[in-house]
Amino acid sequence: MRFDIQGIMEKFYVSCPLNMEKILNSEIIEKFKHYNGIKPQTEIHIGGVLIECELEQGLALNLYLRCATRVLLRIKSQKCRDFPKLFKIIQKVNWKKFLKKEEVQWSITTAKSRLINTSKMEKTCSDALKKYFEPNRISQKILNTPEKFHTQKIFIRVENDDLELSIDTSGDALYIRGGEAYRGNASIRATIASCLLVQLLPRNEEVNLLDPMAGSGTFLKEAKRFHKINNSRSFAFYDYSPKPELLDNNFKFNLKEVVGVETDPEVATHGLDLGIQHGDAFTYTSTHKNYIICNPPYGKKVKLSKDRDIFYKELVQCAFKNMGAIRFSMITPLDIKLVGYEKRSKIFNSGIWLYNYTFERK
Ligand SMILES: C[S@@+](CC[C@H](N)C(=O)[O-])C[C@H]1O[C@@H](n2cnc3c(N)ncnc32)[C@H](O)[C@@H]1O
Repeated sequence: MRFDIQGIMEKFYVSCPLNMEKILNSEIIEKFKHYNGIKPQTEIHIGGVLIECELEQGLALNLYLRCATRVLLRIKSQKCRDFPKLFKIIQKVNWKKFLKKEEVQWSITTAKSRLINTSKMEKTCSDALKKYFEPNRISQKILNTPEKFHTQKIFIRVENDDLELSIDTSGDALYIRGGEAYRGNASIRATIASCLLVQLLPRNEEVNLLDPMAGSGTFLKEAKRFHKINNSRSFAFYDYSPKPELLDNNFKFNLKEVVGVETDPEVATHGLDLGIQHGDAFTYTSTHKNYIICNPPYGKKVKLSKDRDIFYKELVQCAFKNMGAIRFSMITPLDIKLVGYEKRSKIFNSGIWLYNYTFERK
């Protein structure tokens, strides 16, 4: 189904891993310009970037952004101080434009507002949606094939009594790339991996990339696919807008050689086609100059082979002494305090805060 009016500007909130907002903003600007020929209006917020563009341009972000977690389309922004008003706002939306099922998943948050009881807000929203559907039933033919459609997620945020109502156009979070044959049990989120690669790698130079504790190879995969369109999965907006026809873009990392090292022989065999070989990071040597990125075990799910105090320190030393590091980016638990780094920032991966250290050859 096409939308009635073309060329109207919509607002999209694109969320991303915390502290990665600037990286996402630069990805949006570069890639949007590539696909649409113009620089978009963007605004950086905590946790994401707001972009104003046409509907189909915004929906297409889902297919080519590698640093984004979700793309939310803003449906309404208005004052809301009480439940009757909330009911009215929800009942008035033209839901049939988006929904192929009469139930949705609500995600409701409030701050500094008169509306504070989110359970009661959810009940009000569900009642209002039911009321909306009384005269606007979805056709029985569509309702009979629920497996073909997504259960849409609706986000409501009320802050200082200002309500923002959005629909999640992504469905599964975008770090779920789809088509994955194998994923290790402690793999880094694909979106965070892409953000860290943007931070690490230069654009205008051909480089070698090495991950000495590669696991299922998320860094290596993301590095090879940064410019690719994701056609390996479905997105929630496919229920109400056609699938965009897009080709890969130019924002390719300039990679000469991509190598991974992994100590677990079984894990390493899964990554042969990614360039992963069986080996030990502490004895691996390379005669090349390498950009090195690494998410070592934290000593919980995956045990450390050395005393915790020396494991990470020694890995940095090995990277520069034996592995030809030019720059080395490494994730560690928060209690690991290393010295001599160029940059240290906090990242949030699968529910825990960690450090990402970057070291440079002096
Ligand atoms: C946290 S996981 C890395 C996950 C990886 N970034 C991914 O996304 O799949 C750490 C990996 O390092 C491997 N490892 C631990 N010690 C190692 C060593 N000394 N040399 C090479 N790999 C090692 C573990 O077997 C595990 O697969």
